[in-house]
Amino acid sequence: METILTGIRVNGELTLGNFLGALVPMVRLANKHNKTHNINIFIPDLHTIISNVDGDLQKNLVKSIKYYLAAGLEITDNVHIYRQSYVPAHSELNWILNCVASVGELKRMTQYKEKGEGKDSVNAGIFDYPVLMAADILLYDATYVPVGEDQFQHLELTRNLAIRVNNRFDQKIFTPPAKTSDQAKFMGVNDGIRIRDLTNPEKKMSKSTPSENSKIMLSDDPKRAAKKIMSATTDSEANIKFDMFNQPGISNLLQIESLVNDIPLQDVISTWSGESRYGDLKKKVASSVQTFLESFQEKLENIPDDDVYKLLEKGEIYANKVANQKLLTVQRAFNLRQY
Ligand code: TYM
Repeated sequence: METILTGIRVNGELTLGNFLGALVPMVRLANKHNKTHNINIFIPDLHTIISNVDGDLQKNLVKSIKYYLAAGLEITDNVHIYRQSYVPAHSELNWILNCVASVGELKRMTQYKEKGEGKDSVNAGIFDYPVLMAADILLYDATYVPVGEDQFQHLELTRNLAIRVNNRFDQKIFTPPAKTSDQAKFMGVNDGIRIRDLTNPEKKMSKSTPSENSKIMLSDDPKRAAKKIMSATTDSEANIKFDMFNQPGISNLLQIESLVNDIPLQDVISTWSGESRYGDLKKKVASSVQTFLESFQEKLENIPDDDVYKLLEKGEIYANKVANQKLLTVQRAFNLRQY
């Protein structure tokens, strides 16, 4: 059975970008394929401590899992939810893959370049982040990894490391994840999803942007979120068109409208194409986002913590079993185990 796998770090609240770029596509894929695929959803808590050690990590972690449930994730026997640090094989494989990845390729990772390049004081975890991510994926032979477009480079690295190890030992130790173009197709989109900053649509929407109007958080008051959409930066073309390059603000609104309502982007584009009144589109998207947040927040409130802990307990038994098996195969190949 093929595996679909994803993880979202738990640095406090999520943005609508995290949610629509990765979590919602994962939930939709999971519900569609949960009879034929393994669905692995994990909390990369080790990746989380790269940026800060947060006293609320435990609380936020439970909340993150509730996000999936509130977004409609159906739980079947094939759905496995676990915490990365509760499956020590992730760290073990991370080390082994460190001995396969080159410093050069890690230095080329955009995320490292943005956060760490040239700063000697930056922690080594930021540099090594993509290798741990590769371990997260390869331990479970995951074929599809729904993530936002900003993580595609890490998926390519994962593919390369898998192929390199397989070639080195001339055996199929790992399943390389599908190419990013095929990942996007599997998610039902043409390209990776990148939700833009509302005030500066050239950039992606990000938790770390200080300006409140540039991002929508899942905990935002729904009316306030609608106002943020109404004041989103667009352009002066007076022509609604999906063109991320030349009209990123308007295109972002079309993208949000499609994802929030689960309508194919193409249908949203056909409805609005050629219209000139940006205000009308904004009103529609603002109302969609408001309705969505109201219902989402209500569902979130009603999920008991206990439901989450039960899922974790079960998921971690499964994950340790699968991951330890794969780790042993790798250890044997690297001559770390005799039998
Ligand atoms: P994190 O927590 O930084 O991001 C979580 C997910 O949100 C997506 N994302 C976006 N998508 C669209 N538009 C945006 N503006 C936007 N901002 C963030 C990210 O692409 C990501 O999918 N490295 C992963 C966590 C991870 C992981 C893994 C994922 C660790 N190991 C193994 C999959 C498989 C990350 O970026 O988390």
